[in-house]
Amino acid sequence: MKILIVDDEKSILKALEIILSPQYSVICALTGERAIQICRQEQLDLVILDIGLVDMDGFDVLKAIKKINPDLSIIMVTAYKDPKSIVKAIKMGAFNYLVKPVDPDDLILVVGNCLDNKVLKDQITAIQDSDMKTVKSGFIGRDPEIKKVLNLAKKIAPSLDTPVLITGESGVGKGVLAKIIHYQSDAAPGPFVSVNCGAIAKDLLETELFGYESGSFTGARKEGKKGRFEAASKGTLLLDEIGVMPLSSQVKLLSVIEDREFYRVGGSKPVPLAARIISATNSKIEDNAQNGDFRTDLLFRLNVVTINIPPLRERKGDIVFLAQHFLEKYAKKFSRKFMGISSQAKELLMEYAWPGNVRELKNIIERTVLLENEPLLLPEHLLPALSKGQNRQTDNTLVGLEIQYLEKSKKIIGEILEQTRGNITQAAKSLDLPVHTLRYTMKKLGLKTPMDV
Ligand SMILES: Nc1ncnc2c1ncn2[C@@H]1O[C@H](COP(=O)(O)OP(=O)(O)OP(=O)(O)O)[C@@H](O)[C@H]1O
Ligand SMILES: [Mg+2]
Repeated sequence: MKILIVDDEKSILKALEIILSPQYSVICALTGERAIQICRQEQLDLVILDIGLVDMDGFDVLKAIKKINPDLSIIMVTAYKDPKSIVKAIKMGAFNYLVKPVDPDDLILVVGNCLDNKVLKDQITAIQDSDMKTVKSGFIGRDPEIKKVLNLAKKIAPSLDTPVLITGESGVGKGVLAKIIHYQSDAAPGPFVSVNCGAIAKDLLETELFGYESGSFTGARKEGKKGRFEAASKGTLLLDEIGVMPLSSQVKLLSVIEDREFYRVGGSKPVPLAARIISATNSKIEDNAQNGDFRTDLLFRLNVVTINIPPLRERKGDIVFLAQHFLEKYAKKFSRKFMGISSQAKELLMEYAWPGNVRELKNIIERTVLLENEPLLLPEHLLPALSKGQNRQTDNTLVGLEIQYLEKSKKIIGEILEQTRGNITQAAKSLDLPVHTLRYTMKKLGLKTPMDV
C-alpha cells in the first residue's frame, strides 16, 4: 500500500513518516503543487493531506486530487477541531480527518480503517450497484401514521393516469415518497424527472416545462429544446413546490392535464402527455386557493388523490427508529464506533419539535457521527445541534427544553445514586453512560460526587 503525506512542516512530515513507514510505503510532499504532481505520476492508495498548506488552499488540493483520481482515499489533517471545515472536507470526498497534534494510535487506526475500507469497497461495488435502486427509494418508517401513507402510495402507484398531490412540511420526505410511487408503478423503467416550480424564474418556467421550438425567441437554441414533460415521457414528472407556481403557468398546466397534450413554446404540433404527474407542496395550498393565488380548478385536477405526510413530531414512533438507521448508516460510512443511542438521548430526540423534520434529523446525526466517535449517542452530542435548530423556530424554546431535561436528569441521577449508595461506577452502568460522562453531567448539574463530599 502506498501513502502520500502532504504537510508544509518538515518535522510533521518526518514524524508521520516514522509512524507509518514500518507498515506502508510512504512518499512525502511539502507543497500542494508537488502533491498534485505525485498524484499524477504514482499509483497511490491514500493521501494524508494538511488543510493549511502555504502554497495552496488544502481544499483546492483535495479538489485537484479528486479530479485526477476520484477513487483515491484522502484523510485531511486540521490544526484544530473546526466542524465547518471538517464537514466541508468530508462533503468534498475526504474519507476522514485527524486533528493536530496527531496521536500515533489514531493515525494507525484511521489509516488502517481507510485502507480496509478501500479493499472492502472494491469487493462490494458490484453488490451495491444492484441494491442501489432499493436504497435510493428507501423510505424508513414504522409509525402507524407512516404505514397508512405507504399503503395508500402502494395502492395508487399502478394507476398512472391518476394525479397525486403529496403535502407535508419541509423535510418530511415528499420527494422520497414521489420516488417510491414511481418505482412501485409500471412507469418504473422510465425516467423520474423532477422540477422545482419555486426555484425557476417565472419567465423560464414554461420553456422549462414544455420546451421550445427552434427560433421561438431570441437566444433560443437552433434545434429547439425538450421540456421536462417530454423528458419524463413514459416515466414520472414531479412538480415540486407546485403551490408557488405563477398563475399564468397554472392556466397552461390545467389545459395540459385536461387535454393530455401540450405544445412546445412557439410550436404548433401537439405533443401527447405520456408522463405520470405527481405534485408536491409544503405550503397550505388550500389557503392559497382561497386567496386566489392558486386556481381551484387546477387544484381539483391535481389532488384526485392527496397523500399528506405528517410532520415527524406527530409520528413519534419513527424518531428513534430513523435516528438509529442514520446512525448505523453514517457510522459505517465514516468508520465510527457508534452503535446505539443512550436512553437519555432518545428522550431528548423524542421531546424535540423537529421543525426541519427528517432532513434535520438526518443532518444532525450525520454531523454528530462525523465529529464524535463513541459507541453511544449521548445527550451532549445532540444539545448544541438541537439548540441551533430550535432557534430557527419561535415556538418551543430550547431553553425550556434544556431546563426540563436537566431537571429530569438531576432527578434520575439523584435516585440512582441513592440506590447505589453513591457508587458512581454502578450508577453509570445502570444509566447506560460512561463513568466520565456521568461525572461530567453531575458536575454540570451541581450534584456532588462522593469523592467531593
Ligand atoms: N422516511 C424516510 N426515510 C429515509 N430518509 C428520509 C425519509 N424521509 C425523508 N428522508 C430524507 O430526508 C431528506 C428530506 O427528504 P425530502 O427531500 O424528500 O423532503 P421534502 O418533504 O421533499 O422536503 P422539501 O419540502 O424541503 O422539498 C432527504 O435526504 C431524504 O432522503
Ligand atoms: Mg422536496
